[in-house]
Amino acid sequence: MSIVTNFPLSEKSVEEFVRLLLPEGIGKDIKGEVSYSQDRIKVSVSIDGKVAFLEEENLEHIVEDQGTIMLKGALLKAYGKMYPWGSLIGVRPTKMTRRFLQMGFSKERVEKLLNNMYLATKEKIDLIMKVIETEEKLLNKQAMNMYIGIPFCPSKCRYCSFASYEIGSALGRFYKKFVETLLEEIKLVGKLSEEKNFKYESLYIGGGTPSTLTLEDTERVLKAIHENIDLSNIKEFTFEAGREDAITREKLEVLKKYGVDRVSLNPQTFKDETLKNLNRTFDRKHFDEVYRDIKELGFILNMDIILGLPEESVEDILNTLNELRKYEMENLTVHSLAKKKGSTLYRESFEESEVERVLVEGEISKIIKEKGMEAYYMYRQKNSLDWGENVGYSIPGFESRFNIEMIEENQQTMGLGGGAISKSIHKETEYIDQIERLVNPKDPALYIAEMRDRHIKKIKFFS
Ligand SMILES: C[S@@+](CC[C@H](N)C(=O)[O-])C[C@H]1O[C@@H](n2cnc3c(N)ncnc32)[C@H](O)[C@@H]1O
Ligand code: SF4
Repeated sequence: MSIVTNFPLSEKSVEEFVRLLLPEGIGKDIKGEVSYSQDRIKVSVSIDGKVAFLEEENLEHIVEDQGTIMLKGALLKAYGKMYPWGSLIGVRPTKMTRRFLQMGFSKERVEKLLNNMYLATKEKIDLIMKVIETEEKLLNKQAMNMYIGIPFCPSKCRYCSFASYEIGSALGRFYKKFVETLLEEIKLVGKLSEEKNFKYESLYIGGGTPSTLTLEDTERVLKAIHENIDLSNIKEFTFEAGREDAITREKLEVLKKYGVDRVSLNPQTFKDETLKNLNRTFDRKHFDEVYRDIKELGFILNMDIILGLPEESVEDILNTLNELRKYEMENLTVHSLAKKKGSTLYRESFEESEVERVLVEGEISKIIKEKGMEAYYMYRQKNSLDWGENVGYSIPGFESRFNIEMIEENQQTMGLGGGAISKSIHKETEYIDQIERLVNPKDPALYIAEMRDRHIKKIKFFS
């Protein structure tokens, strides 16, 4: 494949684009040409005997890669390809869109741009705009958030590539030492945070499945947080309980005692057989008991589901959606299955399920309406089924600030535990932030061995 253009472009990004969205164009030569007239820019493309062009207002002074973006759109046009998200393959369409708005573009102008330059559909543009409207009310750059990663799970789900190891696997033998090391890290971070006067607005204990911690260790970790971290500015404290097989009433009571106010209870699907095939144990009766306990104790509840799980028919998905009607929750997160490198599913070949988007999305809209929810954050993943998206819905007033801040990369993050990412954010230009990351090892043995050295790096990182 050769790419010849009369303007500078990121070849790698175009090659990736073709691989992901235009498999029929793989290996074909591409010729691109840019031309200007007054304040307009036109990008023409020819590939495989087909020609197409896109024309738009010239924004090269603010959108450096406008030529590349338009070439991608023109490639889609050349093949007559229509995707709901057009040529947008980025993970954070809302972040990109917010930048245009911050630059002073009107809402109408941005919507036009998303449609003309990126070829996104009205439906997806409306979703972006709706999410941004809610986010703007909650984003707070002055505060920070804290993430604590517990890299253990009762079993490893086949679709998962997160920092998590089966508690019963060889790495499970590091569990005890992991907890001791985490308790030490909490102390060190408490000291650093006090010295720096860091104000945390949200705290998220995730993983993995943090409820894999024993009852006693759950209490020790939460107690250490209370003793070492100033929680006076905390507006949201989530504990990703996630799996019913790792939760007990006693654990929930401990969470409540220490101020956790938001938990997840994630079915992913309500089809037992799928869950079994995915290496995820699930007992509906126990799930319902945990649900009742969560409601009784007054937590904000989130549920996660995934669309497109292997061997699930549209009826299975509709059934899962229907089952959700039986539960009251403040947040619902709908994921599209992503084939993630590092997951078992990625290594195995499996037949991709048809999701029948229009039908399924129609049903989701109905349920969301019935529950009085609205979309409040969203992100996309590469290798996601049908190029779908992940959307978090919430009853207004119960949006998770942590999720919004994570997706928008707006706040600094203090990361503790396995696989946790700390983020420091500095202004690069008026509208662009420079984001640096410091990653804790996923592997518990490495985390244990390196925590102190890494903390020294963290002190420098945040100075
Ligand atoms: C960090 S995971 C942890 C949640 C928790 N451990 C559990 O499984 O219930 C957060 C959510 O991401 C979603 N997820 C994980 N892997 C995925 C994949 N490959 N594709 C789509 N969604 C995925 C699941 O819905 C999951 O609940
Ligand atoms: S999806 Fe959740 S429970 Fe399953 S392995 Fe990943 S982190 Fe663990």
